Amino acid sequence: MPSRLPALHVTTDGVGDLDVDALVVPVFRGAIEAPGAEQALQALGLDEVPRDARFRGRLGEVLDLAAPGQPWGRVTLVGLGRMDELSGEQLRRAAGSAARHLAPTCRAIATTLVLVQPAVETVRAVAEGVLLGAYRFDDCRPGRDPLEVADVTLVVPSSLVDAADRQLQLARTHAAAQNIARDLVSTPPNLLGPDDIAQRADGLVSAGVEVEVWDEARLIEERCGGILAVGRGSARPPRLVKLHYRPDSPVAKVALVGKGITFDTGGISLKRPSEIMESMKGDMGGAGAVLAVFSALADLDVKVEVVGYLCLAENMIGADAQRPSDVITIRNGTTVEVMNTDAEGRLVMADGLSLAVEDDDVEAVVDVATLTGAAARALGKRASAVFANDDDLLRQVLTASEAAGEAMWHLPLWEELRDNLESEVADIDNIGRGDEAGATIAGLFLREFVDGRPWVHLDIAGPFWQDEDRYHNPRHGTGVAVRTLLRWLEMTGR
Ligand code: BES
Ligand code: MN
Ligand code: ZN
Repeated sequence: MPSRLPALHVTTDGVGDLDVDALVVPVFRGAIEAPGAEQALQALGLDEVPRDARFRGRLGEVLDLAAPGQPWGRVTLVGLGRMDELSGEQLRRAAGSAARHLAPTCRAIATTLVLVQPAVETVRAVAEGVLLGAYRFDDCRPGRDPLEVADVTLVVPSSLVDAADRQLQLARTHAAAQNIARDLVSTPPNLLGPDDIAQRADGLVSAGVEVEVWDEARLIEERCGGILAVGRGSARPPRLVKLHYRPDSPVAKVALVGKGITFDTGGISLKRPSEIMESMKGDMGGAGAVLAVFSALADLDVKVEVVGYLCLAENMIGADAQRPSDVITIRNGTTVEVMNTDAEGRLVMADGLSLAVEDDDVEAVVDVATLTGAAARALGKRASAVFANDDDLLRQVLTASEAAGEAMWHLPLWEELRDNLESEVADIDNIGRGDEAGATIAGLFLREFVDGRPWVHLDIAGPFWQDEDRYHNPRHGTGVAVRTLLRWLEMTGR
């Protein structure tokens, strides 16, 4: 169940008039005080920010100060980091840290703001940070009280009031969508198999989005050999979900394809050691992100026609599981020798990408997948790897990721590594020889199925999951890529 978001609004009142459980005051690292701090500090009888080893104003640090005799239950200082590094993302992170800290205990929160340019981005970034930080996955603890926070006020200069409503609405829609993806990633795999995602899709997408579910019989009829091969080891059959958003007079048509492995044991090529399986309930993070995007398109009034493909299967080791060295046939007719059943994501994605480019009107394809451990090793937990066969589309997606504050780094599709995919018996092999450049080889594999259409591949294997709380991302499923995709679609439709 999507979590409840606190209400957000703006005010131009002075902080002295705000009756809240906590007044959040952002402060820079270093000697310069951020505007807005002074009045709150004075009210507490302080002439400067109390800085010590615990609180220096480093990004995301929080310090609670008692506020006797004031209308605020407390003043919470939050670090913005260095003034010369200030950006929308710093604001999002600081706001997220404060919200995560206060959400369990405070019902009403207000915050002063430090402006970035363009100023409207200030409201949007802070609102996103607050809404994303005040999230907790509680679906498996129905008896637990929800987070306390219900009402958040941003103290803005009067020049921002008119534009603020729209920015708050954008932030709300993006955060709600990201929270859907987070919920899906964090949901235990026994409760979320391929058909469970298919069943939930209708209730999550915005009104007007068409949802079509292909069951096993249909997948056979449609020759989706990749999804079927991966799904056959599981008692829970695979699915393909097609989503279709059609605005009036669209300016473009694009497709999104998501990897939806609801649990990845590796199949017969079993993952070792078994501890690395724990986060594999989130191996549907790509499909979760794509589904979440479709929850927001109508609200954002996106002018682009968008088709989505969720490639859903559970990679298990049942009696009918595929074997290493099986040869399968993907939707587009390519035969693949499955040399490693743990490289299953590319098999299901091959069907999804093939379907996406069958429609000649689709101008661009973006896929999202927790595809390779290699991407996570190369870039760490912070950034997604981006691969592309088209510079313009690549630039668009990177611009969107920058605006969203979701780090992405372009990696190459080295042409000479394509030879790695040569198979002795089929058109291609699914892992390639040698263990170099695993994320690139996976990208080259996927490229075989896009038929030269402008295409970007996002490998989110690093950031889809976090073991630690970090700024506006509470630990576990992050919902990464949702806001980048939404920003991209908003920009494309303008
Ligand atoms: N789902 C995994 C990739 C993954 C690993 C995502 C860790 C997130 C965190 C994928 O299906 C996989 O197993 N990939 C293999 C490919 C290899 C067998 C060529 C990998 O990365 O080891
Ligand atoms: Mn795998
Ligand atoms: Zn996988």
